[in-house]
This record gives sequence, C-alpha cells and structure tokens, in this order.
Amino acid sequence: VKDGNGVKGLVDSGLSQVPKLYIQPLNERINKVDSKPCDMPPIDLSKLNGPEHEKVVDEIVRAAETLGFFQVVNHCVPLELLESLKDSAHTFFNLPPKEKVVYRKSVSPSLKMRYETSFAPETENVLEWKDYINMVYSNDDDALQYWPSQCKEVALEYLKLSSKIVREMLEILIGKLGVEVDESKIEDIFGLKMVNMNYYPACPNPELTVGVGRHSDMGTLTVLLQDGIGGLYVKTEEDNAHGNGEWLQILPIHGALVINVGDALQILSNGKYKSSEHRVMTPSTQSRVSVPLFTLPIPTLRIGPFPELVKKDGFAFYRELLWQDYMDHFFGNPHEGKKNLDFA
Ligand code: SIN
Ligand code: FE2
Repeated sequence: VKDGNGVKGLVDSGLSQVPKLYIQPLNERINKVDSKPCDMPPIDLSKLNGPEHEKVVDEIVRAAETLGFFQVVNHCVPLELLESLKDSAHTFFNLPPKEKVVYRKSVSPSLKMRYETSFAPETENVLEWKDYINMVYSNDDDALQYWPSQCKEVALEYLKLSSKIVREMLEILIGKLGVEVDESKIEDIFGLKMVNMNYYPACPNPELTVGVGRHSDMGTLTVLLQDGIGGLYVKTEEDNAHGNGEWLQILPIHGALVINVGDALQILSNGKYKSSEHRVMTPSTQSRVSVPLFTLPIPTLRIGPFPELVKKDGFAFYRELLWQDYMDHFFGNPHEGKKNLDFA
C-alpha cells in the first residue's frame, strides 16, 4: 500500500471498505455536524487599485491576524487557467499506473517532480486518503523538462501568476507590521516555490478517514485552488473574531483562490499573523482535487521574528533558525496540528 499506485490504485482495485491502515482514531475523524461555514466574504483584489484601497488592505490584514485564511476574487489568475489546472490534475491521476510510478521518489529523474501518497508514510501510523504530485520550481527549463507533460504548462503559469499575488500580499502584510525589509529580503522570504496537485479519490468510508490531517502550512503564504466539492476546514483560535476553537469550512467559491498564512510568516511576524490549523475531509462520491502554490523562505535564510517587532513587543516568541532545519523537522514528522511551531 505504501508504494505502487497510491490511494487511487486502491480504489481502482475495487474495494468496498477502506483498509485498516487508513482508519483514523476517533479524535481525528471529521464530523460535518461539528463545523459551520466560514462567513467571511471573499476579498476583491481589484479594489486594491481604486478608492477602496485602504479598506481592502485592512480586510487582508484583519484576516491574516485572526483566521489566517481568506479567499480572494478578481485576482490576476484567469478563470480558464483555474479550470485547466483542475482538469490537468484529473488527467494526471487518471493516467495508467505505469505512467505515474516513474515519478515515485525512488526512481524519479529529478526531485523537482515527485508522485506521492499521504504526507509522511514512513512515519505515519495511519495514512491520509490522498495522492499528490509535488513540482518544485528552480527555473523554467527544469520545470518544462521534469514536470509531467499533462500539467507542466498550466502549473508553471499558475506558479508565476499566483506568486504575484503572494508578493502583493506580503508587501501589504509586512508593510503593516511597520518593519523595513529590503527588496531582496522579501524575495528570499518567499523564494522557494512549489506547486502541488492533490487528488482525493471518492472513499467508501469517508467518515473513518481523513484527506489531510490537522496541520499548519510550513511556509510563508499558500495560494490554494480548490474545486467545487468542499471539505477544507480551518480551526479558529480560542475566542477570536471568527469563533472559539471551532472548525469552519472554507466553502468553495467559483473563481476564488484561498490564501493562508504559513508558519514562516507567523514566526517572522512574531505571532501577529496566524498560521492556522486546517484539515481536509475525504470526499464520498466524487474525487476532489486541489492545487496549492506553496511559497517558502529559501533554505539558506535564517528565519526569526523581525527585530523591530521583538523590540516593540519586548519578547521574541520564536528563536531564529536556519530555514532548512525547519523544513527538515516539518517533513520528518506526521501531521500534528501546529506542533511544528514548538520547534521555533
Ligand atoms: C492541505 O492543506 O494540505 C490541502 C488543502 C486542500 O486540499 O484543500
Ligand atoms: Fe495545508
């Protein structure tokens, strides 16, 4: 099960019940009844260029300080590209196994493209009901050489356009912290970029499994395209504007992108911006796809709270560390809520 053709392969082999290895302990299972939809309206990014600029800036900053998640519409990524991305994700995962297994980590011609299942199968007691591909960006030539032909062009275009959104959001968010960061440092803070395509096959026992377990994202900002099926849940902090330790569903909005704060930005902002715990429910009747762009600091960067903030707050909530060390820690452990932040 841990290799071969992932969860999709399992489903295609015609199973009527999920194997034990996928059955979550009671406390990790996701109950729809325990959650409600997030009622925050999507943020209209086109208004950043008009008279409502300040209002939109405030909405973005508020969202990053509270839920750590928000949706944006009227962004620079064309809707046709979003459709093509979802289509190409389905196309890839529906390929015959022999065309996918060539990208398994052990045999893939380059680690810039990997086809995987679950999150950290070597260390997990229970596996997540998800297959995915991970496409790491270094330059266009490598992307076009190593990423799969079914999705490389659209993934590259998405990476470039959604990186612009990340840059714009970071300028706003870092700007509002009142810290001076030079251009090249901003580039380094989100200099490592990767696009994943996640595939969650319809599951015969969705209530027993999870698509993705509770975790926070490791990086700076994530831009996520989800399809219309739904199932992404975010946990509110105790007693904040959005709830009291509750799970809110980020409802699919056609044409919108989800943006969320990752651990790196929580650390840099000395805890002002929230890298929220989130998880994904397994779909029951149709396979679900999602396409995140992850932006992370470059591995050689040292990451810690901005010194001006430490001075102002009188305390550093996180230590300074080499970003590579944080990544190694993150990938070496199964998902467990926001626990990785204790490492910082
Ligand atoms: C994730 O947060 O890992 C996946 C999000 C999604 O599929 O909606
Ligand atoms: Fe995530």
